[in-house]
Parts: sequence; structure tokens; C-alpha cells
Amino acid sequence: MGDPRLLEAAQPVRAFDTPELRTLVDDMLDTMKHLNGAGLAAPQIAVGLQVVIFGGFKSPRYPESDEIPFTVLINPKLEPLGGEMEEGWEGCLSVPGMRGLVPRFKRLRYVGFDAKGQPIDRTVSDFHARVVQHECDHLAGVLYPMRIRDLRNFGFADVLFPGQLDQDD
Ligand code: NI
Repeated sequence: MGDPRLLEAAQPVRAFDTPELRTLVDDMLDTMKHLNGAGLAAPQIAVGLQVVIFGGFKSPRYPESDEIPFTVLINPKLEPLGGEMEEGWEGCLSVPGMRGLVPRFKRLRYVGFDAKGQPIDRTVSDFHARVVQHECDHLAGVLYPMRIRDLRNFGFADVLFPGQLDQDD
């Protein structure tokens, strides 16, 4: 947080199934696994493209994350369904050691493409919906602290949740 590249709008990917795109996704996956994240967006590794990855393995920080299939989502578009919002705790690999209570849409549909250019079209809710919203926010230059309604609900993970197994995310 503080790097201006995290505040820029990412550009759409124009060519799919290329070695460059595969290398980018591999780098993102290495970073996400290494840091036990639930997801990662390309701008977080200083690549200004509309690429996010999430889900697919058990993060000690986010036990629910293994319920989400590993997904590479490119040029995503989100459509909230029903308008219901829900508050939940979030962290971010770009805001290490912190947690904040963030309102997100409970249900949404997202569309986009995988790395080969195959379309993705899913309707999801709860944690899955939260992760997608968090990661896609990165593509618009939005970090979760900007969405916290009451900054009293923002702090250090080890103070807010003492004793919990927690990586420096
Ligand atoms: Ni993040």
C-alpha cells in the first residue's frame, strides 16, 4: 500500500493462451501460495493487467478458501445480485499484517475468461463473492481499507485476533 501502481486501473488482456500470460499466472500463483493468500491480482505484482487468481487451496488464514475452485479470471465483469451487503473481515497481501471489516455484496454474478480465453460465467455468494469483489477491486485501483465504513474496525491482525494462526499477509 502506497505504491501508486496499486491505485491505477488495470488494462484488459488482449491475447489469451500466450507464454507471457502463462508466466504471469504462474508468478501470481507462486506469490499467492507463498503468502497464504486467498487470491491475488496482477497489479499486486506490478503488472497492470486485468488478471486475478483465487481459491483452490487451503489457506490457514482463510479456511473457507478451499471451497472455491482455483480460478484464473481475466477481464472480469461483476454484477451484484439482490443488493444485499454483508460485513466481513478482510486482509490483503498489499496491506500486510492488517485486517478490516468490509461491506461486500452477498451475491453476485461474474463473467470473464480463463487463461486460454474460455468464458467463465458464475453466480456465487458469501466468501466466494467476497474474494471476487476484493480481487476485482484491485483492477480498479481500490484497496479494501478504502471500503471500510468505520475505521475503528481496522487494525493489526495479531491485536484484533490474538492467538490465531496468522501469516503476515
Ligand atoms: Ni488484496
